Amino acid sequence: MPDFPEHITKLQPYVPGLAITSLASELGISPDDIVKVASNENPLGPSELALRALAEASSEIALYPDNDSLELTAAIAAVHNVPPEWVVVGSGSEAVLSMAAVSLLTHGRQTVYSQYSFQAFAGAAQRVGATAVVVPSPDFVVNLEELLDKINEQTALLYIANPGNPTGTFIGNAEIEGFLKRVPKNVVALLDEAYYEYLSPGERPRSVELVHEYPNLLVTRTFSKAYGLAGLRVGYGIAQPEVADMLRRVRAPFSVTRMAQIAATAALKDDDSLARTVASNASGLRFLYEAFDKLGLEYVPSYANFVLVKVGDGPQMSQRLNRRGVIVRPLKSYGLNEWIRISVGSAAENEQVVAALGKELGSH
Ligand SMILES: Cc1ncc(COP(=O)(O)O)c(C=O)c1O
Repeated sequence: MPDFPEHITKLQPYVPGLAITSLASELGISPDDIVKVASNENPLGPSELALRALAEASSEIALYPDNDSLELTAAIAAVHNVPPEWVVVGSGSEAVLSMAAVSLLTHGRQTVYSQYSFQAFAGAAQRVGATAVVVPSPDFVVNLEELLDKINEQTALLYIANPGNPTGTFIGNAEIEGFLKRVPKNVVALLDEAYYEYLSPGERPRSVELVHEYPNLLVTRTFSKAYGLAGLRVGYGIAQPEVADMLRRVRAPFSVTRMAQIAATAALKDDDSLARTVASNASGLRFLYEAFDKLGLEYVPSYANFVLVKVGDGPQMSQRLNRRGVIVRPLKSYGLNEWIRISVGSAAENEQVVAALGKELGSH
């Protein structure tokens, strides 16, 4: 028997949303007839500029990517008005979350994050054998006060998703600033802002500006959500050079593909596509809230592109919806048995989801 260390044998595999192709073959229907609202993807797809850039560059895939993603890094740095040395690109922001764990955590060190946080935080800590301290969150909002309380000499990294997934809840700028002031300088605070673009301009925390003030702050963003490039795997972190350099050291070589770099660089220029996505998401959320109200379902108002909704038996409802060709996210692995998470789809998809939910609840 190969001798894997205990922290590896105890790892639970990541459970992604059910794949469209799996359900289509199970139900014997076309994948086109399945609505997948389980992975917080962009129902409008990627920007036309990204698609065009990809088509033009497709013959270049015989070449390795630029290991430093120089062009993309420069484009991100320009958008955020920071030096390129502050930007670390990764194969999805998940890779950046993981780089933070690999560079900061090890046996005997600890990370602190909130209950009902993005699963990847737990995975990243476990893979390096670190301890994870989970702060209760009965109201689904990250309890920053308790997070601070849990910091001790072993703590090296704090993970906060803002807005959170699967909760969809959000912490405003004043609270974030008040919190950062109190985080010890030797502890890195990672603000995972995968859903930042969905916030209205007035709500958005000035997180990147705060990186100038806090050398222990790492902000992560992604091209997987509002930019519609989830399948290419590209995201980034912004931090001062002391942190950014260490992350780069633990990044796997050539891990951000050539196509990902090209598409993300083009997508950053497409403000119209981003604006369409954000507007469509806002109207989709309003539609879903209204439908849930009519169906008498409790839900958590969301700042992102999905909603947490209480359906009684989440795994069972999810299976019943599957039989109607609708894939939602059951949340048993998060300890949220009574809830499911529904991503905001296109207008047509949202209608199909609500119709299926209505039929299952016997109200339509
Ligand atoms: C809170 C949060 N952070 C990060 C990610 C990772 O996204 P990606 O690795 O695609 O950038 C997700 C994806 O669902 C998420 O919900």
